[in-house]
Amino acid sequence: MVQFSLPKNSQINERGKVYPISSEAKNVRNFLIYRWSADDGKNPRIDTFSIDMDDCGSMVLDVLIKIKDEIDSTLTFRRSCREGICGSCAMNIDGTNTLACTKSVNDIKGDVKIYPLPHMYVIKDLVSDLSQFYEQYKSIKPWLQADESTISNKEHIQSPEEREKLDGLSDCILCACCSTACPSYWWNSDQFLGPAILLQAYRWINDSRDAKTRERLNALNDSFKLYRCHTIMNCTKTCPKGLNPAKAIAKIKQLMVEGI
Ligand code: SF4
Ligand code: SF4
Ligand code: FES
Repeated sequence: MVQFSLPKNSQINERGKVYPISSEAKNVRNFLIYRWSADDGKNPRIDTFSIDMDDCGSMVLDVLIKIKDEIDSTLTFRRSCREGICGSCAMNIDGTNTLACTKSVNDIKGDVKIYPLPHMYVIKDLVSDLSQFYEQYKSIKPWLQADESTISNKEHIQSPEEREKLDGLSDCILCACCSTACPSYWWNSDQFLGPAILLQAYRWINDSRDAKTRERLNALNDSFKLYRCHTIMNCTKTCPKGLNPAKAIAKIKQLMVEGI
C-alpha cells in the first residue's frame, strides 16, 4: 500500500539540524521531523532529535511536546485532547497517517519519521492547511435537516435500530487521515470530496430523522465529487478510529443505483 507522499510545497534539500543527547541516556530513540516555515525563506528540512524514552511518555505526541518544551520551542503541530477524540494531531508517522496522541513509539521500529499529512499544503512544520477540507465538509450541509412538521419542543427520538445505523459513522473525528491517504484525493482534491467527507455525507443520508435524503444524494451525483473513488481502500486501512469510509462510499453508490 502506497501511503506516503510529500506535502505539496516540499522540496527537501536543506540539511536539517541534529540535536544530540547526553551519552548517559540509555533508552534513546531518534525522531526525524519535517520542518518548514514560510517565515525564513528556506527550503524544508528534516531535523533529528534524540530523546531519552526513560524520561518521556511513550506516545509520539508526548515526544513532540517534550521537544517543544525542552529543545526547540519553534516546533509547530496541532493537538488538543491527547486521547484520540479531537482529530487535530493527525500526521504521517512511520509512513502511515495516524494520530500522534494514540500512536506509541514502542510500536515503531528504528528511527521515527514524522511528516505532515501527505499531499497537502503546509502552513508550518507538521500543520497542514485543511481549509479546502473544511469547505468540502461545509458543502455537504453537515447538520440535521428534519421535516418541519416533525419538529417540536420535545426530543426528536430514534429507535435503537435507527440509532444503530449511525454507528461507525458518527464516530468520525474528521482527522483527515483517510482523505490524505487516498490517491484519488491527492490528484483531484479540488473536485473529489474524499472519503472523510463522503462518510460524513452518508452519516446524514442514513439518519432516520433527516428529510433531505434525495437532495443530499442529488448533490453528490457527480463524476468527480463521488465517482473519483476507485475503491483503492487506503482510506479504510489508515483510519485511526477503525472506521470504514470505503464502505460508506459504496453504500452511497448503491443508493444512487437504487434511485432512493
Ligand atoms: S476507497 Fe475510494 S476514497 Fe478510499 S482510498 Fe480508495 S479511492 Fe480513496
Ligand atoms: S473516517 Fe477515520 S480517518 Fe477519516 S476523518 Fe473520520 S476518523 Fe479520520
Ligand atoms: S490530540 Fe486530539 S486526537 Fe490527538
